[in-house]
Amino acid sequence: MNVHMTALAHELLDPKDCPFAKDVIAGLSQQPKRLPPKYFYDETGSKLFEQITLLPEYYPTRTELRILRDRGAEIAAAIPKNAALVEFGAGATTKVRLLLQQCAFGAYVPVDISGDFLNGQADDLRKDFPDLAIHPVVADFTTPFELPPDVKDMPKVGFFPGSTIGNFDPHEACAFLRSARAILGDGATLIVGVDLEKDERVLHDAYNDDAGVTARFNLNMLVRINRDLGGNFDLSGFRHRAIYNRERHRIEMHLISRKAQTGRLLGHTFSFRTGETIHTESSYKYSLERFTALARGSGWTPRASWTDPDRMFSVHALVAEG
Ligand code: AVI
Repeated sequence: MNVHMTALAHELLDPKDCPFAKDVIAGLSQQPKRLPPKYFYDETGSKLFEQITLLPEYYPTRTELRILRDRGAEIAAAIPKNAALVEFGAGATTKVRLLLQQCAFGAYVPVDISGDFLNGQADDLRKDFPDLAIHPVVADFTTPFELPPDVKDMPKVGFFPGSTIGNFDPHEACAFLRSARAILGDGATLIVGVDLEKDERVLHDAYNDDAGVTARFNLNMLVRINRDLGGNFDLSGFRHRAIYNRERHRIEMHLISRKAQTGRLLGHTFSFRTGETIHTESSYKYSLERFTALARGSGWTPRASWTDPDRMFSVHALVAEG
């Protein structure tokens, strides 16, 4: 697409038909300004997130992997044999590989909004697990969807790792847990990874890394708005900052305006004061008790939870009692 065609494409873009445009305009019209974190994950954002998971300061990924590895036998004991493993959102396959190696599953159902990504991932796994039936489902896992008929009669085990549940506000986390229960059905088990509350300095460093990868991840939201929606936001006019909100038990990521400025997008003008922020993500941190209370209030019975020796991260097995 040349420059003129791109400009024309943006002019023709009607926010009514484009959820990204609609959400960005609505979010930047609010006070304080917000942008939904799900829009971090274009190709660049997904690659930057993979880099974040390898940073020395970012403990969640390697700690969860350690729990899945070290407590694998106990996790396997909490899971019925020959179940269908339904993964909500498909990222790197490292975690699910650990589960697949340690537990005897009858089928694997990865669910993700990106069909291309899902199919690439399924092909990858088929090479290493040739006897496993893999049934990818293209769907937004935060809304109801049907499981493939092939797994209808199998016991169901949901898998939601990475503390992605922490990126939902508590009422959204509750809605997700209720929806997962309805999709998986009575008798299902849900294995969910949840980041724990800890020393604020550890949290601060994990989201303000020295190499600046999290800053690039956060600013990529504006790069994407400029590229995909024809915005004219000045990238050097904003800086990344993550702060811990103690009252709400969450790390907040913000883009802070370095100066008084405006940004335009699809005929809308947004003004920023010096220091004004766009809140781009919340990452809630739970105590074991607060998370199990949330699970109970969302229709699940906590069966077991596992943590690492330093109690940085937790993995829970929840059961949908009939
Ligand atoms: C995907 N999610 C659980 C990450 C988190 O820790 O909340 C996203 C992230 N944001 C900044 N660093 C990582």
